[in-house]
Amino acid sequence: MVLLSSSDGDVALAAAALASGGLVAFPTETVYGLGGDAFSAPALARIFEVKNRPRFDPLIIHIAGLETLERLVDFKALGSGAGETLRILSERLWPGPLTLILPKRAELPDLATAGLPTAAIRFPSHRTAQKLIGLSTGAVAAPSANPFGYLSPTRAEHVVSQLGEKVDYIIDGGRADLGVESTVLDIASSPAPRILRPGGCSREEIEALIGPVEFSPSGGGLPGQPLSPGELHSPGQLKSHYAPRTPLALYRRGALAGFPPAKGEGRLYFERPKDAAFAGGEEIRILSETGNMTEAAANLFEMLHELDGLGLSLIRAEEAPSYGLGEAINDRLRRAGAKTSFSPSEFHGGGA
Ligand code: TXA
Ligand code: MG
Repeated sequence: MVLLSSSDGDVALAAAALASGGLVAFPTETVYGLGGDAFSAPALARIFEVKNRPRFDPLIIHIAGLETLERLVDFKALGSGAGETLRILSERLWPGPLTLILPKRAELPDLATAGLPTAAIRFPSHRTAQKLIGLSTGAVAAPSANPFGYLSPTRAEHVVSQLGEKVDYIIDGGRADLGVESTVLDIASSPAPRILRPGGCSREEIEALIGPVEFSPSGGGLPGQPLSPGELHSPGQLKSHYAPRTPLALYRRGALAGFPPAKGEGRLYFERPKDAAFAGGEEIRILSETGNMTEAAANLFEMLHELDGLGLSLIRAEEAPSYGLGEAINDRLRRAGAKTSFSPSEFHGGGA
């Protein structure tokens, strides 16, 4: 593995590697991605292998210009209503943290879409990502650059320690601005557009442009298992995902006050708790001192990475308010805690 900067020369080198079937981890505005040429089956197979990702979980194809849609999307299979939705969303929210599910063209390898008739497509706004994609083949399949099921990387260092020698190049573009993955919106299959994964683009922003959308993130299912077929809209919707290795218990806002901090435990607050008396010795992280949602989202995975590195027995985390980016934060926290089992009363702080 070679660590690169985001200089023009380094990005050109990485783009050439992508074009010849190599794997490159690169920064985006959401999290770091693990990229391979979307039309190279061997590169796609290597992505699944490196991430230890099940083959039923399809990848997101990243583009750097709308003209590339012609090579990826079967426009004939897209109804006129969905076509208009695509026009509006691509004009107003791309480039940006929004992934759209669209009917795929047959030429796009089935490995990229896990055999589904649809493809997930995203046009990132990050300049380095755009340059890299544009200089390579124009269509780069890139899941988040973490081992399957683990926390997404928001810094090049996270990728180095999690995937390291398994990839050819890692481009260091500093810290990811948004810190949570893109919102995945299906405009291809359901009668109304449906959010499959809340993320960096809020439901409010989308609804302001195209009207009400359905919302069906994580939901039921046993920890670590796919949702039941009726609930399974996106094959990546595993209940336990984005998870630290340390057990995590999630509490409603304010409910953590009822738990005297214990040694060996970590705390993750959304904002600075009022009247909190910390004895010292607890590992406390606060997503945003002032309760700023954007700042909180940007800190989420980073603070979880930090807490996870401390060898704690438990992380007690507090929910964010459930609007805007808070929906994405809470979705990731729920999944981070899905492997941890507690009695319902303990789980939610006794119903506070
Ligand atoms: O922000 C992001 O989206 C990052 C950066 C690197 O762009 N990428 C990312 O990729 O989060 P990944 O692979 O970790 O998540 C892709 C999600 C999965 O939940 C997957 O199941 C879903 O998108 N997905 C992909 N193709 C799909 C399809 N055809 N239908 C439904 N869901 C799909
Ligand atoms: Mg991921």
